[in-house]
Amino acid sequence: MKNYLRLLSYIKPYMRRLVEAVVCIVVAAGANLYLPWIIKDMIDKVLAEKDMEMLNLIAVGIIVTFIIRGVFYYGQSYLVSFVGQRVIIDVRDVLFRKIQRLPLSYFDTHQTGEIMSYISNDVAALQSALVDRLIELFTELSIFFGSLVMMVMLDWQLSILTLITVPLVGQAMKIFGRKLKKSGTVVQERLSDITSMMQESISAVRVVKSFGREEYENERFHNQNELNFKAEMKNVQQMSLLTPTVEFLAAVAVTVIVWFGGYEVVNGRITAGALVAFLTYAVNLANPVKRISRVYGNIQKAMAGADRVFSVLDLPESIKDKEGARDLPKVEGNVSIEDVSFEYKEGIPALSHLSLTARPGEMIAFVGPSGAGKSTIANLIPRFYDVTSGTIKIDGYDIRDVTLASLRGQIGMVPQETMLFSQTVRENIRYGRLDATDEEIVEAAKDANAHEFIMQLPDGYDTKIGERGLNLSGGQRQRIAIARAILKDPQILILDEATSALDTESEKIVQAALDRLMVGRTSFVIAHRLSTIFGADQIYVIEHGSIVEHGTHEELLDAGGLYSNLYNIQFNKGNLKGTPF
Ligand SMILES: Nc1ncnc2c1ncn2[C@@H]1O[C@H](COP(=O)(O)OP(=O)(O)O)[C@@H](O)[C@H]1O
Ligand SMILES: [Mg+2]
Repeated sequence: MKNYLRLLSYIKPYMRRLVEAVVCIVVAAGANLYLPWIIKDMIDKVLAEKDMEMLNLIAVGIIVTFIIRGVFYYGQSYLVSFVGQRVIIDVRDVLFRKIQRLPLSYFDTHQTGEIMSYISNDVAALQSALVDRLIELFTELSIFFGSLVMMVMLDWQLSILTLITVPLVGQAMKIFGRKLKKSGTVVQERLSDITSMMQESISAVRVVKSFGREEYENERFHNQNELNFKAEMKNVQQMSLLTPTVEFLAAVAVTVIVWFGGYEVVNGRITAGALVAFLTYAVNLANPVKRISRVYGNIQKAMAGADRVFSVLDLPESIKDKEGARDLPKVEGNVSIEDVSFEYKEGIPALSHLSLTARPGEMIAFVGPSGAGKSTIANLIPRFYDVTSGTIKIDGYDIRDVTLASLRGQIGMVPQETMLFSQTVRENIRYGRLDATDEEIVEAAKDANAHEFIMQLPDGYDTKIGERGLNLSGGQRQRIAIARAILKDPQILILDEATSALDTESEKIVQAALDRLMVGRTSFVIAHRLSTIFGADQIYVIEHGSIVEHGTHEELLDAGGLYSNLYNIQFNKGNLKGTPF
């Protein structure tokens, strides 16, 4: 209910249209209500008094009624759908925006399909709750109250009588219905008892035979079978008893109404036509009651969707701008990681007490076994996750004190596998900086060693990715990713195994582009092949979330630890000890 009110708050901007829609619904329902009135005049004036003028009037009345009904029916459908669709579009927008703001940790624990089902299925359920059910609800309510008013206008005494007897019979039917359902459930249970017993007995046939227990089993089964028979008969008994009883009660109710109505006609208190019209309205009254409770059930179902949508909308945004956060000024490139520990899941440390400093333009490399925590460090610098303890500073600013946009705007990332959007190559590169000119895009592509292959695509820069079976190779995709990063021109660069999915040939081309990209920027390089980081200013060897060694390539080789082991393996210089990665 609370969520329904919340949903209604989305309707507010469209209140005027909704009011217009309700007017249309009421008028259309009113036109319906006029029809029994026509029957009354038909009987009383035309049939009884042979009133020709009235007959003509009625003919015109019927035509006019249907024209009015048609016009307002159009209005009601159009307007209610308009409001409903608008609200849905708004909710979908709000939901999508919310999902964009959710922290990465949310996406670690929720499947893409699950998230998408919120946006498509649950919002669609809301749509039906709002559009179809709203029309039904208003229509039925109008018919219900309209019929009621008409009945009272025709004969208030008969109305009171009807309003007492009909609910009484209805209540009785409900009680009997519940009883029937209960004995029906017992029948179902007995039946499933039989099935499970058969299954058990048959699958244990060896046990039965080996103990010579066939007779025993027969007996057991027979008893169960009999129980089913009893339950079945009880159900039948109730049904055969209840049906005539209910019918009898209904007949009594109808008789009372018809008798009293007829009595009034005989005594001249109302006309015959009025009685027929009255009974038509009375029948009209029954339908909305049934439908309104069904609509209520449907709305309930749709609200389950609303609950899920709102629960997503209410999710905390753990990573967001601090109150009063300022923009990070243009970065020079000092990055310091100070005693940082991090846990994805509470109690399971992914990084512990990590410290390091990078000066502007330096190249920092991370090596270490898979699962050591290298990518985790890369994720913390742009604040995809917040550190559990410790601080990360850029140019002396704690990254939690500056705006996310200004922080991430100055960090470029090239991951192992690049996600390209199904847009043109040009638009994919422009993703790095939306206001880049076409010339700048070509320039960036050239620097990324991508221009040549792009020019060979069917439509050059205007080739749509993912269309006409256009499959870019891994190396080509990475070069587009690099062009993107060049366009962004960040002062801090993070390359997380950017070439490790590539074959040696394309690795060389991509690496050349990466080397050019790194010049003058503080770069964090997670390396798969050591050859790419020989020139690094600092190499950190990470294992189990901690730094186990650091230094330049030469220093680490001299130290003869994990790094030199790895080097020996990759370059096959013999002397293999330990188990490097
Ligand atoms: N999104 C995540 N949620 C939970 N645990 C994660 C997540 N990403 C990585 N981990 C865990 O954190 C540890 C470090 O992972 P990662 O930084 O990806 O290692 P590396 O990049 O060195 O191979 C691993 O034990 C990994 O299972
Ligand atoms: Mg990794």
